[in-house]
Amino acid sequence: MEINRISLFEIDSTNNYASNLMKSETLPHGTVITAQFQTKGRGQRENSWEGSSHQNLAATWVFHFDHLKVANGFIYNQAIALALRQSIHDWINQEVFIKWPNDIIVNDKKIAGILIENYILGDDIKSSLCGIGVNIFQTQFSFPQATSLMLAGSDIASTDSFLETLHENLLEKLEELKLHPSLIREQYLLHLYRAKDLIALKHNEQVTRGYIQGVDEWGRLIFSIENSIHLFQSGEVQWIWE
Ligand code: BTN
Repeated sequence: MEINRISLFEIDSTNNYASNLMKSETLPHGTVITAQFQTKGRGQRENSWEGSSHQNLAATWVFHFDHLKVANGFIYNQAIALALRQSIHDWINQEVFIKWPNDIIVNDKKIAGILIENYILGDDIKSSLCGIGVNIFQTQFSFPQATSLMLAGSDIASTDSFLETLHENLLEKLEELKLHPSLIREQYLLHLYRAKDLIALKHNEQVTRGYIQGVDEWGRLIFSIENSIHLFQSGEVQWIWE
């Protein structure tokens, strides 16, 4: 598959680069910007993204949409997480989960993350920058709950091999999103990390234990604490690894 790609050696963040470029030109749907080094890789909720050396994949895809409502934004996030999950699964022989809302988990550790930034006009998502970081060859991390394809036993030979797999899976899942959105929701729930397990979350500075019951169509976590159901937005609670 031909990939419309801008390959950079070093940049602050591929998402920032894409966003600056979008101010002056329209990049075609599916354009991907990659960097071997990010000096200021960004994660979700203003966090930094450490896994950004040449050993890993740091890439931002540009997507355009004709009919994607802001109200359906979470299902688009789910489609991206599923394409990334599938791509990791294509390269290792282990179970791969999606930790709500969209971290990818192998062996109870994070292997990849997603940072989506949408361009909205009225009720519609017109375009989106989909930043993806995947740990591929790195074997040592300062964050204890991190892993890589290499540590998970993959025989992958280059970061570009992963990029090709992911590119194909992303475009395929976006087609599926248009045609069968309900399948996306079903698949997401099938791969949800620690669904129905007793887990701990930090909420309002307090640790709460309960069970993940699912995720609603707005992307809120459905969490049961004793006999009551709580709906949490992403960012409202913090995951406690234990
Ligand atoms: C997260 O898990 O917090 C999201 C991590 C997203 C990292 C990627 S790396 C490529 C792209 N450019 C960035 O600055 N961030 C995303």
